[in-house]
Order: sequence, then structure tokens, then C-alpha cells
Amino acid sequence: MAEADTPSMEELRRRSHQDLRRRTIAHMQARTTDLSDGPRRIDPAVYVDPRRFEEEKRELFRKRPVCVALTGDIPNPGDKMLVDALGPAILLTRGKDGVLRGFLNMCPHRAARLVNECDARSRMTCRFHGWTFNLEGELIGLPGKEGFAGIDKAELGLIPVPVAEWHGMIFVRAAPNGDPIDVEEWLGPMAGELAHLELAAARPVKSSMIPAGANWKYAFDTYGESYHFATLHPTTIGSLAFSNTMTHRSHGRHFRIGFPRADFIDYGDKPEDQWPPSDYGGLYMVFPAMVINVNTLPDGGMFYGISRVFPGETPDQCVTLMTTYRPGHELDGRPDDAWAAMHDFIEKVVRTEDYSVSAEGQRNLAHAPEGFRMVFGANEAVLQKQHAEIDRILAQSNES
Ligand code: FES
Ligand SMILES: [Fe+2]
Repeated sequence: MAEADTPSMEELRRRSHQDLRRRTIAHMQARTTDLSDGPRRIDPAVYVDPRRFEEEKRELFRKRPVCVALTGDIPNPGDKMLVDALGPAILLTRGKDGVLRGFLNMCPHRAARLVNECDARSRMTCRFHGWTFNLEGELIGLPGKEGFAGIDKAELGLIPVPVAEWHGMIFVRAAPNGDPIDVEEWLGPMAGELAHLELAAARPVKSSMIPAGANWKYAFDTYGESYHFATLHPTTIGSLAFSNTMTHRSHGRHFRIGFPRADFIDYGDKPEDQWPPSDYGGLYMVFPAMVINVNTLPDGGMFYGISRVFPGETPDQCVTLMTTYRPGHELDGRPDDAWAAMHDFIEKVVRTEDYSVSAEGQRNLAHAPEGFRMVFGANEAVLQKQHAEIDRILAQSNES
């Protein structure tokens, strides 16, 4: 295709969103939903077994890449970010050269935690004995250096952790000195879908840390089905979107999901060229536990609501980092209020409705009778596929 004919990212996004809206409206009109080939039984051990939990943390959150942030969260030289939820304490820095780097947040002297405050300074000094490092991780200040005669200073730099920045998404592999991250290989057929969101230009408006007394999968499962909208969310999400009707598409181990919004009913039976333009993009689910909600504000402005769910200290704990962003094309003179209000609304729904029911369910699972099995219905197809992928990865690691 000639250069001039290559569609812009905006055009690709528009086409993809229109396709999703077409498929969700078809389900809404037919009162149908995507179904798998049947229900699946789920062993509660998946959510409560400590050994399984350790395997998941190792295989999914340390060995493999996890998207932890967007470029807009750490945009300028000198910026730092702390990532503690993957296991090892990790420090991200943006160097003077603009390059993002990852290190263990650990002083090579006697392993003290190096950074606790994310200031914008270009040097980082350990509070224990004052060793000082630059943003590239090199040791540039060694008090009492005669005590370390014979050791090459170059050996005493911070220990690197692989990071990759791709189209505004920041991935970390929480394995010190680990293999570099091939983002496109990891994202597979989802890569194009994510690239057209132009996440590199998005700016964070508001962030919340939401702890939950539930296994990380129990919490993440609540994002992947609309079966519960009318019952769990009668006055919130349930009044904005139809219940138990959704469309999804697998892109390798990742998903796109569409839920019919209540306003689709106003025009769904009209010819498509009479539909109002919409930036509704549904959910982009990035394995293992990130969801990007691409949706619109009441006034039509677009927002990206990103939730990243991480395992907690025990199988029955998790934490979610939720951030609401303004996309690059929404960065005009308007104040952030509408985006912040949307953040507060979703945060409250997730905390008081989704995660509250998750914590109650988790507690019951710990006391479920021998032989009890949960059920994922055929209408909870994304959950079935997500769990099957996790099972596949764990089985593979147990073979090797
Ligand atoms: S542990 Fe950091 S300077 Fe000693
Ligand atoms: Fe929900």
C-alpha cells in the first residue's frame, strides 16, 4: 500500500470501535450474547491454594512481561516510579537521554532500599551509607572509598531489570538480569489494537490504589463478564449498560470486549450511517491482569480507565492500581474535572460493589466443602478462556 493510503491511527481506532459497536448492537437487538461451547467447572483451589498462588506469581508476574504504567506516568528525564507489586522492589527511572530503565530498588552495598521518594533529581543517594547513583544506575559517589579498594566501581552499579516501552505502554519483567522483553511477541495479534489507542500521548488525571480481600483472579474476573451488571450494579453500571449481553474477541491470550451501552438503544435500529459518532472502544484486556476501558464521558469526551490487578501477600489479597487518563486528542484547555469525576465513579463501583462481592466469595471459598466446584457459564466465556490460558502456562512450567 502506498504511504499516502496508509490509514492513520485515528482512522484505525475509529474502524475498530465501529466494528465493536456493530457487534454489540447486534447482540443487544437479538437479546443474545457470546457463548462458549458450555459451562466449565472451576476448582476453588485455583483461588485459595498457596502453592498455586506462588506458581502464578512466579510464572505470570515475574518471569513474563507485565504492563505496569503508561509513558505519561513517568514522562520526563529524572522522573522515577516504584513498582513493588511484582515481588522484588523495582525502580524505574527516565534518564537524561529520555530512555526508561529498570533496576532493583536495592543498594548494591548492603541491599538497603535505595529510593522511597519519587523526586525529579538526577542522582539517588542511599540513606544507609550514602552511596550515590545516577539515573543510568552507575555508582557515582562512594564515601570512604578507601574501604573498597580493589573493587571496580563499575561492578557496583544498580542491578538491571528488563523494561520495554512500546507505543506508550511500559512493560517490566521482574527478573533481575533477565531476558529483554519482546513486546510485540508478547502482545501478538493484540499489538495493532493497542497501538491505535495512541497511549503514548495519554496523560494521567487521577490514580487510586484499591486493595481487596480476594485472590487477584477473583477480582480480575469481575471485569470480564456483564452477567452481573443488573444484579450487582442496579443503580450504577447496570443502568448504563445491558446485562448479560456482550461480545468478545480473542487476540492470542488477550481480549477485546464490548458491552452494549444503554444509549445504543436510541439508534441501534437505524442504518449504521445514521449512528452518532462514538469513541466507545470497550475493554482491552491485556494478559494477565490489565484492563483498559476505552469509553466516553457524559459530554462525549473520551477517557482511558486503566486497572492493573496484582497479587497481594497471600492468595486472598490483591491490589489494583486504577488510573484514569485523558487521551492525547483530549488535551485541550478544558479542566480535568469530568475525567476526575468519572474516575471517582468507577473507583467507587469497583471498590464497593465488585471487590466487596469478591471478598465475600473468597472467604466462602476458603470454607467450601470437599468436592465443591464453582461454575463459569457459557456466557462467562472470557473467564473460561483467561483461566484456561493461566492453566496452560502453569502446566507448561511444571513440565519443564
Ligand atoms: S546499603 Fe546503601 S550505602 Fe550502604
Ligand atoms: Fe462489575
